[in-house]
Amino acid sequence: MRIGNLNLKGQVLAAPLAGISNRPFRVLAVGWGAALTYTEMVSSEGIIRHQKKTLALMEFQSDEQPIGIQLFGANPEVMGQAAAIVREQFCPDLIDLNFGCPVKKVVRKNGGAAVLKDLVLTEEIIRAVVEAAGEIPVTIKIRSGWDDENPVYIEAGIIARKAGAAAVTLHARSRSRGFAGEADWLAIKKLKNAIDIPVIGNGDIKTPLDARRMIDQTACDAVMIGRVSFGNPFIFGRVDHYLKTGELLPEPSVTDKIELALEHAELMVGQYGETRGAKMMRRYLGWYVKGWPGATELRPRLFQVETRDDIKQVFDDYLEK
Ligand SMILES: Cc1cc2nc3c(=O)[nH]c(=O)nc-3n(C[C@H](O)[C@H](O)[C@H](O)COP(=O)(O)O)c2cc1C
Repeated sequence: MRIGNLNLKGQVLAAPLAGISNRPFRVLAVGWGAALTYTEMVSSEGIIRHQKKTLALMEFQSDEQPIGIQLFGANPEVMGQAAAIVREQFCPDLIDLNFGCPVKKVVRKNGGAAVLKDLVLTEEIIRAVVEAAGEIPVTIKIRSGWDDENPVYIEAGIIARKAGAAAVTLHARSRSRGFAGEADWLAIKKLKNAIDIPVIGNGDIKTPLDARRMIDQTACDAVMIGRVSFGNPFIFGRVDHYLKTGELLPEPSVTDKIELALEHAELMVGQYGETRGAKMMRRYLGWYVKGWPGATELRPRLFQVETRDDIKQVFDDYLEK
């Protein structure tokens, strides 16, 4: 699978996830088989103002690569300037443009999915970023449109191709749908038929079989996995393995998950320090234990952990029972 000049070793991509796809998440995603990871979406306005917190979101190391930095914003000039900074200071494998975010804070300023309401603007933004990004491939991530009545994904895909984008990811829902209902995979197929750059299909993949089904039904070039990977980095490898061999690896056991949750905690603490790292880890722990017997009683204890040792203790107690 190739995106511009970037060769990927598989077809399974880890989604950009605000508040979630930070360095520890990405290290595990790549380690467990994702062919590409992304930063959380990063504000182009924050970048050109050199805001420290914004810049920190884009720092990465080789164990998270290949990595895409995802930008959002609605001003072509600002997006171009931001892309130039990204290229010079961070040099990721890819720059992705967020034209899909439905969150009010973002669309109020015409960013994210709001860009899809004005395809002239969409094109201007892509052109500005492609020019500034130089050799770094630029991709876009879209929803099917602002609302169900006005699907624009095919037009947006054609425009992106024309403006120099190297691939398009489609989360096959309109902005107004949020996460409700089922993603419309037929839209992915239609987009694939309409453009000759790679199409990455996204929406509602939960199992390796779903990924296979999406590729078979839509002919998309790769799949992107989001929510089901929370507390479940194993999914990238299980999907990758299934797509490559047709063999379904077993679900990870509780002990496998505990081992990985502790490794995740270690990475969190390494990245953010003991106190902040352990606190940030709480929500991920809640996801790791999803579906375990006794998870309801376990969660309140996990949501109070202050240190790595606390986490280990809670799991030791759980296993003893
Ligand atoms: C908590 C959360 C944060 C997200 N943050 C981003 C983001 O920063 N950029 C983006 O393009 N999409 C973002 N998304 C959308 C996902 O990348 C993905 O398109 C969506 O979850 C559908 O895929 P899934 O069904 O596999 O979860 C986010 C989704 C969730 C649930």
